[in-house]
Amino acid sequence: MNKVKVLDKEFVVSITKDKIQDAVRKMADKMNADLKGKDIIFMGILNGSFMFAADLFRQIKLDCRITFLKLASYQGTTSSGNVKRLIGLHEDIKGKTVIVLEDIVDTGITLDNIKKQLIGYEPEEIKIATFLFKPDAYQKDIPIDYVGIEIPNDFIIGYGLDYDGFGRNLEEIYTLAV
Ligand code: IMP
Ligand code: MG
Repeated sequence: MNKVKVLDKEFVVSITKDKIQDAVRKMADKMNADLKGKDIIFMGILNGSFMFAADLFRQIKLDCRITFLKLASYQGTTSSGNVKRLIGLHEDIKGKTVIVLEDIVDTGITLDNIKKQLIGYEPEEIKIATFLFKPDAYQKDIPIDYVGIEIPNDFIIGYGLDYDGFGRNLEEIYTLAV
């Protein structure tokens, strides 16, 4: 299936499942080598990271845990457009090595927000892993410790990423057709 239509838009395959699995394996290998002996907790950021997190986690050979967090818009009168609160953090992460798992880092605004909130829980260190990274769109200077694949600044779907909620179930990554 080289082309798909999702809602009103056409998409074409840009990253095959073999390339995806290859990149995930390389990330896992690097983590397995880097993170030995640390008290680790992986934190997948929902919704987009669930597929990447599942594939990566299967290949992690360390003693570790995983949990999932979500960003929710503030409710009520204090609501301010872009500020989102991290919800679902029930574990004590004080003194631990937290590895944030993101599906994609685009501008980096989301990542910056997540990192600032996590620092408040006093982890030993925060490492960032993103499956996809758009270097041309990145506006922050937070170092990203693990990157799966760098991609151009185009809109993509599949492998957990959505267009208006759809397309997350696609096994390959698709780019908006021009
Ligand atoms: P940010 O610009 O780095 O804050 O990216 C915010 C979020 O936008 C990501 O976590 C994704 O959920 C979403 N996003 C960014 N680029 C894409 C894309 O190309 N396709 C689908 N979702 C995207
Ligand atoms: Mg996301």
